[in-house]
This record gives sequence, structure tokens and C-alpha cells, in this order.
Amino acid sequence: MVPGNPSPIYVTQPSLAPLEELNRYLQHIWSTGVMTHNGPLVQQLERELADYLGLDDVVCVVNGTAALQLAIRALDIAGEVITTPFTFIATANIIAWERCIPVFVDIDPDTWNIDAAQIEARITDKTAAILPVHVFSNPSDIESIEAIAKKHRLPVIYDAAHAMAVNYRGRSILSRGDVNCVSFHATKLFNTGEGGACIAQNTEVAARIRRMRFFGFNENKEIVDDGMNGKMTEISAGLGLANLAHLNAVIRNRRYKYELYQALLRNCEYVTFQKFQPDEYNYSYMPIIFDTTAQLLDTMRKLNAENIFPRRYFYPSLHNVKLFESPFLPVAERIATTVLCLPLYDQLADSDIERICNTINKSSLAD
Ligand SMILES: Cc1ncc(COP(=O)(O)O)c(C=O)c1O
Repeated sequence: MVPGNPSPIYVTQPSLAPLEELNRYLQHIWSTGVMTHNGPLVQQLERELADYLGLDDVVCVVNGTAALQLAIRALDIAGEVITTPFTFIATANIIAWERCIPVFVDIDPDTWNIDAAQIEARITDKTAAILPVHVFSNPSDIESIEAIAKKHRLPVIYDAAHAMAVNYRGRSILSRGDVNCVSFHATKLFNTGEGGACIAQNTEVAARIRRMRFFGFNENKEIVDDGMNGKMTEISAGLGLANLAHLNAVIRNRRYKYELYQALLRNCEYVTFQKFQPDEYNYSYMPIIFDTTAQLLDTMRKLNAENIFPRRYFYPSLHNVKLFESPFLPVAERIATTVLCLPLYDQLADSDIERICNTINKSSLAD
């Protein structure tokens, strides 16, 4: 701790139900001794998530990365996968891990999602899928992407790691594309500690993901498919059930805080925000863009000196990562080198948001 400063403020803190609500589920686990293997709490969480989201089926898995891996495998994707460079490394390295090649397309300067207008130029006879990310929960240009996918007969896997509880055009965003992959990591809006889910439109694909997450066993315990261990544990599912009961309140609270930041930074001429439709966003992150990297670094230094630790999500843009081959992508480069995610979580006080915004507002390099 920096002497004389209040407790550190990190970019996020998990949203957690009261401990006694989790205890109910833990007592159930302790009494049955069932810890895993598609146990009753995982099944209950899958049903409750499907109800909450208005979906037919949700397949819970061990984390969001495994969800992407299972989606790629269940659709038999082999070859080039068109994706965005402005995302967390998991999106691209799991494509490569599955022995596919990520092909990065530049992003839209306003939404920060893959620029659909540039996708067709990167389609070749090796293209096997399109894998957009709804960055910070902002819906990708779904209509254009799906029109291109249909024309070229390509499956669409959405990396919806951030997009839990987002409605797009009146329905869950997870009802689009071929498979959607969500993360329930501790830092996400809705968390199970580690966890995630696949939502597949086709029931056979969903059934295949269920088999693949369980070593390839079918319901009769016959080994009928490729498989790995992608199962969610009962403890994670219990935490998910406890947290799900509070999700609407969590979203309302984060939206209030997001809007407070927006109001307090409104007149800061070197800061801009991601563009989104207010009712098609879940307010799980508080990203801002500075005009220059120098302003970003200067502001970060000043915030760090006050014991406040925002994060550079997502930096660097993945077209710069040596593991991958990519042309230079100017918009992703500009956004990734000037974006900063400010602290946003349930317990963050209004007075802390005011303090953070004061520092940002006063942080012009002209000081
Ligand atoms: C865009 C994106 N994709 C995938 C993942 C991977 O999710 P997980 O951490 O649950 O494996 C993350 C998260 O952390 C993410 O931010």
C-alpha cells in the first residue's frame, strides 16, 4: 500500500452473492458428495441460465477458452479463421492451439469490433470460419457478418466472453451465429470463479459439445467422439446459481456507475467512449480512449500514484504478437495504444469515481 493513500482500487472486483446464499449450495454438495460430472447443480445452472436468457439450451464448461476450443472442434473447423486483433489473447491463441490460423481484420473506429466491410477481402479458399468478438459486450455488426457467412457458407462462432445478458434486437445476443462462447471468469459480469458456456443453435452441435466436454462419452457412457475434460464443477455451478439471482441488480449498478463516469468525463476533450446502443450493452467494463498514448501513460502514472490501477485492455493489438503473422492494422493499433479500462465493480464508491475522473480531467500533458 502507498503510505497515506486509501486502499488500492483495482480495475475490477468479482460480483459475489452474500456468502450465506452460496452456503446453501455448498451444504447440498457436502451432503451428496457429488462434486462434478454434470451433477445436479450444473444441470440446474444450465436450466436457469437458459430461462434467464430466453434460450433453449446452455452447455456449461470449465472456462471461456475451453468454450471456444469446443466450438472450433464441434464444428470441425480446420484452416483460416477470420477474427479481430482487438481482443484478449485467448481468442487468437486458442484458434492457433486448435491448429487453425487466425487471420486478423481491422476494427471499426467507433464500435471497436471487427470491421465487417473488410472481411470479404480476407476470405480465401482456406477460410474455415468467422470468429468475431463482441468487445466489452458491444454487439458486432451481426447482420453484415452473417450475410457474408451465408454467401461464403462459413460458420460463425462468436466470442461472447463479455456479452452475458446482452439483448440484441430484442433477443439474447447468444441466439445468433452457430456457436456462442461466454466466459464466467471471476472478472466477468456474471461469474462462477472459472467457468463458461457454449450456446449452439443446432441441437446436434450442442449434443456434440456435451460429449466433447466429457471425454467423448455419450449418455450411455460409450466413447463415441473426440473429447477432453471441459466439465464445470458443482462448486462453480453453486456459485453461479447464487450469483445469477443478483445479476439484474449487478447490471443496473454497473450501468449507473458507467453513466456517472460518462457524465464526469463529458467535458474532457482528450477522452472518448466506445459507441454502442444503450440497451444493447451490459456495462461490464469502463473503457475510454485517449487522443494519444502519451496522455494515456501520463494519466495512468497519476492514477497509480493515488493507488488506483486501471488496465490497458486490450494492449497490444494481436496483429503485433510475434506468434501470429499479420499485416499492420491501423485502427486496431490506434485503439489498442490509447485505450484504458477504468475501475468498475459493484462496491466502487461514487466518491472514488469522482476522484478518478478529477485526476483524468486534470491530467492534460499541458500541466
Ligand atoms: C474476449 C475474450 N475471449 C476469451 C476469454 C477467455 O475466457 P476465460 O478466461 O474464461 O477462459 C476472455 C477472458 O478472459 C476474453 O476476454
